[in-house]
Amino acid sequence: MKGQEWYQQETVVESYEDKRFSRGGGRLTDRLEKEAVLDALEPVEDKKILEIACGTGRFTVLLAELGADIVGLDISTPMLGEGRAKARRAGVADRIEFMRGDAARLPFPDDHFDAVFGVRFFHLAETPTEYLTEMARVSRGQVVFDTYNRFSGRSLYNWALPMGSRLYSRREVDGMLDAAGLTLAGEHHEFLVPFGLYRKLPGGVADAIRRAERAVGDTDPGDDLASISYWNATVE
Ligand SMILES: C[S@@+](CC[C@H](N)C(=O)[O-])C[C@H]1O[C@@H](n2cnc3c(N)ncnc32)[C@H](O)[C@@H]1O
Repeated sequence: MKGQEWYQQETVVESYEDKRFSRGGGRLTDRLEKEAVLDALEPVEDKKILEIACGTGRFTVLLAELGADIVGLDISTPMLGEGRAKARRAGVADRIEFMRGDAARLPFPDDHFDAVFGVRFFHLAETPTEYLTEMARVSRGQVVFDTYNRFSGRSLYNWALPMGSRLYSRREVDGMLDAAGLTLAGEHHEFLVPFGLYRKLPGGVADAIRRAERAVGDTDPGDDLASISYWNATVE
């Protein structure tokens, strides 16, 4: 998996958040992603949650702050290092267990968590159904994940991304859910303007585009053009 190696590099890790989420349109996408995840998972207080491919702990730390009992698992030691530092700064280090591991073989028994989720991961997965099945195995309730969509603005530059990036059709997602024994309970489609372009925009321009997106995006045709979909599924 190319994405697995990509996020082991110190230079990639050091600039991961700064490049994507620290200013203008990037900050906006960070906030919107967090809203999408919370909408799917709430209420989180005292819920036992696993985040796969947690990276620098963007969601892990937020969920710990909101009272979740959370484990963050990632295959990259340097990404986890950033996550641990962030948890210490936020004063929630004792509420999070960061763990190095491969999401293909989760080191937990069946039905161990109330909810399992992963964000910005499935575009890196070469065998997505296997990963989703493994997430479903260790959850007794909910599985939440996002996919980058095949028929969206992302397809314009997707081919150029060095870490590799898989795009999904609705049919593929339905097939994966079926194979993993999951039932779709909710879906949310976001970002007519893909992340990669959003983060290059100054805050004011990003906010204006966001307002226009909202007007189109809350319609069925808007959903069809969204670059990211969030899937909220329950274990059968
Ligand atoms: C784009 S980053 C996303 C990080 C975080 N979820 C976020 O949204 O900021 C992808 C992450 O997936 C991790 N990853 C890739 N392959 C993995 C695997 N097989 N098992 C666990 N983590 C993996 C990488 O190390 C990296 O931290």
